[in-house]
Amino acid sequence: MCYAIPGKVIEISDKIVTVDYFGEKKKAINELSNLKMGDYIYAQGGYVIKNIAEDEALAILSTWKETFFELQELDLRLSRMDSKKQGIDKKLALILDKSAEDLPVKDSELLYLLSLKKQHELELLFKVSNFLRQKHLGNSCCVHGIIEFSNYCSQDCQYCGISTNNKSLSRFRMSQDEIIDAAYLAVEKHGFKALVLQSGEDPAFSVKDLCKIIAEIKKRSPVLIFISSGEVGFTGLARLYQAGARGILMRFETSNPRIYKELHPKRDLESRIAHLKEAYKLGYLIITGGLIGLPGQTNEDILADIKLTRELNAEMYTFGPFLPHPETPLVKSPPPSVEAVLKTLAVCRIAGDKEAKIVVTTGFETLANRAREQGLIAGANSVMLNVTPEKFSKNYCIYPNRAHSKEAIQKQIDATLKILRNLGRAPTDLGITHG
Ligand code: 5AD
Repeated sequence: MCYAIPGKVIEISDKIVTVDYFGEKKKAINELSNLKMGDYIYAQGGYVIKNIAEDEALAILSTWKETFFELQELDLRLSRMDSKKQGIDKKLALILDKSAEDLPVKDSELLYLLSLKKQHELELLFKVSNFLRQKHLGNSCCVHGIIEFSNYCSQDCQYCGISTNNKSLSRFRMSQDEIIDAAYLAVEKHGFKALVLQSGEDPAFSVKDLCKIIAEIKKRSPVLIFISSGEVGFTGLARLYQAGARGILMRFETSNPRIYKELHPKRDLESRIAHLKEAYKLGYLIITGGLIGLPGQTNEDILADIKLTRELNAEMYTFGPFLPHPETPLVKSPPPSVEAVLKTLAVCRIAGDKEAKIVVTTGFETLANRAREQGLIAGANSVMLNVTPEKFSKNYCIYPNRAHSKEAIQKQIDATLKILRNLGRAPTDLGITHG
């Protein structure tokens, strides 16, 4: 199964190539040395990942063609907006109209959207964000795989179940070969084109080790790699990029410095933000965002988080619910409501970068059974599947009862494809969003 469809190179201009997908033209960054006009390629996250043989590409495209247009049509139908906005106040109708037309929406208006409570008003908000998703990004849905390779962590984030302070957790560390093999399986057997390598801040993995792992994975299979091991330092970022990493997944967690300090006694917000800015300067694709529902957090904070994510040039926004873990100081703090999460995703779509992806997080899937469907029709267009070997994944308990942590990869893939198909979404990642 593939999570990107082949496209044909129709223009090469230095490092930027134009790729044709059934008549739709998209741009991507090319780092392959031997790419020629007319070649068929896979692209992911705006990067050319792999050159593929013409006959292989044509065979895949012929099985895709009908489905491709069918899915597009279904998505278009589902994301169409109803022009009648009955039963809502004038103020809301105006904000939603401006949003749908990509006109500037004031902070006070975005806060109003975040404060909505009535079901029919929320439904209209989600319709607008879904409409915008379709308008700017079509029906493509990005499917990344994530490998959680160590749950050791030197940090003491007050909400996190793998914090160094949790003495009751059974810790694991995958060997370098196990990580490389898991990545190989995800790419070669399951068809993933983008992988996130995630861990706690584990001193046992030096930057040198991580570089070796990344280089080896890329030597064996073409894949877009995101690193997600916390703050590795500016030099670390540069070395990991050189080794072949092209993306980073690191949330700033909250843009409120007071809450940040309370929850991360050993850290400060500026350093985290500086890392993300440096990563962008180095050329990394940025996946960042915050936690929703932290104690003391207000809608003003959530809006500031969304704006910060935009400022950091995120190509993918990751906003998930805080979930109380029994072995942390925040055990008694309640999680946010499902609606609070959906409203945040919708406002990300309205106030965030038009081209940005928004992921339905595993945290949200843990909070709500139907999170994927609900998130994808409230503005989101991306999912991450857990491709960590099951024997390790069950102990990556950042929060309890994590969705999919005991599910085989193939089962997750089948379930995801079914959801995407029913919504008219294609598991592709076509466009350039960076560079
Ligand atoms: N609830 C929700 N998300 C959590 N994370 C850590 N602990 C929790 C929790 N209790 C998230 C953080 C971190 C990511 C890897 O996991 O946002 O960035």
